Amino acid sequence: MSGLTYEQEVARRRSFAIIAHPDAGKTTLTEKLLLYGGAIHLAGSVKSRKANKHASSDWMEIEKQRGISVTSSVLQFDYDGYRVNILDTPGHQDFSEDTYRTLMAADSAVMLIDVAKGVETQTKKLFKVCRDRGIPVFTFINKLDRAGKEPFALMEELEEVLGIRSYPMNWPVGIPGGYKGVYNRVKKQIELFEMSGRHGASILPSKAGGVDDAAFKEELGEEFHKQLCDEIELLDGAGEVFDWDTLQQGQLTPLFFGSAMTNFGVEPFLQEFLKMAPPPSPRKTLQGNVDPTEKKFSAFVFKIQANMNPAHRDRLAFIRICSGVFEKGMEVKHAQTGKMIKLAQPQQFLAQERSIVEEAFPGDIIGLFDPGSMGIGDSLVSAGLNATFTDFPVFPPEHFARVQPKNSMKRKQFLKAMEELAQEGAIQVFSNPMLSGEGFVIGAVGTLQFDVFKHRVEGEYGVNILLEPLGHSLARWLPRGVTTKEMKGLDKAVVVQDRWQDPVLLFESNWALRWAMEQNPDIEFLLTPASRESLVEK
Ligand code: G4P
Repeated sequence: MSGLTYEQEVARRRSFAIIAHPDAGKTTLTEKLLLYGGAIHLAGSVKSRKANKHASSDWMEIEKQRGISVTSSVLQFDYDGYRVNILDTPGHQDFSEDTYRTLMAADSAVMLIDVAKGVETQTKKLFKVCRDRGIPVFTFINKLDRAGKEPFALMEELEEVLGIRSYPMNWPVGIPGGYKGVYNRVKKQIELFEMSGRHGASILPSKAGGVDDAAFKEELGEEFHKQLCDEIELLDGAGEVFDWDTLQQGQLTPLFFGSAMTNFGVEPFLQEFLKMAPPPSPRKTLQGNVDPTEKKFSAFVFKIQANMNPAHRDRLAFIRICSGVFEKGMEVKHAQTGKMIKLAQPQQFLAQERSIVEEAFPGDIIGLFDPGSMGIGDSLVSAGLNATFTDFPVFPPEHFARVQPKNSMKRKQFLKAMEELAQEGAIQVFSNPMLSGEGFVIGAVGTLQFDVFKHRVEGEYGVNILLEPLGHSLARWLPRGVTTKEMKGLDKAVVVQDRWQDPVLLFESNWALRWAMEQNPDIEFLLTPASRESLVEK
């Protein structure tokens, strides 16, 4: 028990995800946040996740073989009175729908950008989801210990590529590749860091003082000091005015500069970010918004991690608490089936260690053992609360493959696998009886999902399958009731249905899509199913 009231517990929660292109330094930054949060004492322990441990299940074999992190965890620590939940998103090139879904559980996002590379493809995709979902984005420009793009050029790039204006919270002092620290615009002071050559394994000493402080003038040298003063004047005079509404609407991003590896700028970032980042926000349900001040419990499932133990269909359903206090052993209603469930063995994660949760509040994430009844987006609520969270959006897949069982005697198990894994959200399943074999096509956001799918169908259901990748990379849904019979220009498209029976067209290229759109000017081509909540409006 913390001695805090329910309202204070809610108000001190900060739940966020870090979005980045691979190699921007997400693992490193996460680790440094844990270091400053006192959750680890020497950096290096999170990274070792990539190389060892987790030998306990088959599932992790894929992770080991590919040398990547397939599963994502939730890390929690306390800092300065805040309870911080970092939702760690899978960060490999082959990212999956889980990467997107994690954002549904976050109240804000930190967009991490490599100073030399600027905005990269994966950053763009993830940013778009944040903007579409109204998740405020904070930006951390990383690797400032190296040469890279100029700060003003990066601000322009954010505006041109992502359409977001930025408000620098701090400003690098010195020259690219040789920055000595930052000017903190909130505290109006210079913060210089002592570089350590040891990958910043420990907390970095820093010294702070006013711009006019003679000691700093001397340390920076006259030229850099003047340059800094000019830049600050420019930012203060001509720059954006910070306001909360534009941040909430995804039009403005607070901008921080630093280096996760050498720790510079990490702590000032953490301090300011926690002050500005929103606490748990109200969530939409079919019955209206559920506010975190509501004392009755509600939560939704945003991720399912399967096959912790290959002997059973033993899964962890990760839930995000939206209202009320979670207590170990409590009974809640699974809104989708109407069944009461006892939440007996809740798990929380800190780096490698799992611990049993006794109590949790809105904004917190916990993992529940689930024998196989829960699906992505499902709601768990106290018996007295009538709330069903709205459907999860469908994220447009970019990779497709035909799938069939190698042995037709295994048809029944194969169909079961397709149904269960689609319901769980492991893969998107499309069908058309006119196609060869069983007529199934699977779709994924990243190709790794195919490997995981194959591994699971073979391991958990005992069905060997043939996967035949298709050259298609674009899916467009048609409005309900529209059939392709009268449509023209679809010779190269594959026509299928999703599992809600919405018609979908798969195209090989943008060119083929545009051609089909021109040939059928009266028909709407949708990025997501018309019958589900739309991710991207047309
Ligand atoms: P990711 O999770 O986003 O994929 O990135 P990760 O943290 O694994 O970092 C990718 C590479 O970038 C690592 O180098 C890491 O050390 C480096 N890096 C992260 N932050 C900084 C920084 O502030 N400055 C510099 N110069 N490099 C940074 P690596 O060579 O893959 O690994 P390692 O040998 O350094 O451990």
